[in-house]
Amino acid sequence: MTRTLTILGLESSCDDTAAAVVRHTPGRAPEVLSAVVAGQTELHADFGGVVPEIAARAHTEKLDLCVEQALTQANLPLSELDAIAVTAGPGLIGGVLAGVMCAKGLSAGSGLPLVGVNHLAGHALTPRLTDQATFPYLMLLVSGGHCQFLIAKGPEKFTRLGGTIDDAPGEAFDKTAKLLGLAQPGGPSVEAEARTGNPTRFRLPRPLLDRPGCDMSFSGLKTALLRERDRLVAQYGGLRVQDRADLCASFQAAVADVLAEKSRRALTQYLDLAPVTPTLAVAGGVAANQTIRAALETVCAESGTQFLAPPLALCTDNAAMIAWAGIERFRAGHRDDMSLSARPRWPLDLTSPSMLGSGKKGAKA
Ligand code: KG4
Ligand code: ZN
Repeated sequence: MTRTLTILGLESSCDDTAAAVVRHTPGRAPEVLSAVVAGQTELHADFGGVVPEIAARAHTEKLDLCVEQALTQANLPLSELDAIAVTAGPGLIGGVLAGVMCAKGLSAGSGLPLVGVNHLAGHALTPRLTDQATFPYLMLLVSGGHCQFLIAKGPEKFTRLGGTIDDAPGEAFDKTAKLLGLAQPGGPSVEAEARTGNPTRFRLPRPLLDRPGCDMSFSGLKTALLRERDRLVAQYGGLRVQDRADLCASFQAAVADVLAEKSRRALTQYLDLAPVTPTLAVAGGVAANQTIRAALETVCAESGTQFLAPPLALCTDNAAMIAWAGIERFRAGHRDDMSLSARPRWPLDLTSPSMLGSGKKGAKA
């Protein structure tokens, strides 16, 4: 199908309610005509994590408002769209259900086709939205809920090389911030503290580097940090300013080392495919971290691989990526109907073994 497509995307799988309109004419760069995100950080602030029931209710309240705003900003009525794309999983089931029901209502009312999208495919296809990346490219998803390496071979074809067996890196940053009395979300607070810290003062573990493959683990790192914190508190009667900065810097260095070394291994497997333009792209909130980004850039430079980091608003949860994945899926001939169901788990690569564990931000695929 070679005509211009304009698709509305809906996202509600975690703690961001989002709607966006994306247009694409083959041969041209896609255009994000509007992108609205209503976050829920303050609703969950007292609970130390996302509360699924609160999230689902907030999505139900905000979805139609976000849709209205997205259409107004794009200056388009529903009748001028080609389809409605919605995250149908994986994620917190109440939120995913809220999005799927809203999309079904819009589809039934307008007669527009419905396209169910995998949230992870949304992240993984973003480099094609922002940089027109060509298949195959290597993708590293690193956020509060995701951590995996994927080779994107086609709009619906992904090979998973490995991922976390426990916490996602963002989750580890958030827990670290909590242990050190820093503000949430933990990533930016820990990164800010780390700027004045010594990354080599505490030799925190680099989990799973001694094992082959691309699987990762971050929960032991947090436990090691807790032990160092308790030792310092016992010794000095509290955590001194420099101790806290050094703990943050040492923790950040450990995460960066693990992600860099595992990226090196993932790249070796990916480069075996002899891609024309070797590319490693990142997505997820943790990709905002300058130390981690620099470490990944260094690894890419070693093998002449292009490093792509989409703008942060398109790296974190958003609906433009869902609209874009919807466009790719629609062009491939995919359509859903009223039988579309919300899925808490939906691995992108059905051939890879499923991972154990579930994080604070929902089930990991
Ligand atoms: O992609 P995202 O907005 O949401 C999902 O988790 O789906 O990612 C949020 C996560 C949080 O855990 C946050 O602490 C982390 O990304 N994060 C960072 C930084 N900024 C956000 N982690 C490390 N360094 C940062 N600068
Ligand atoms: Zn996400």
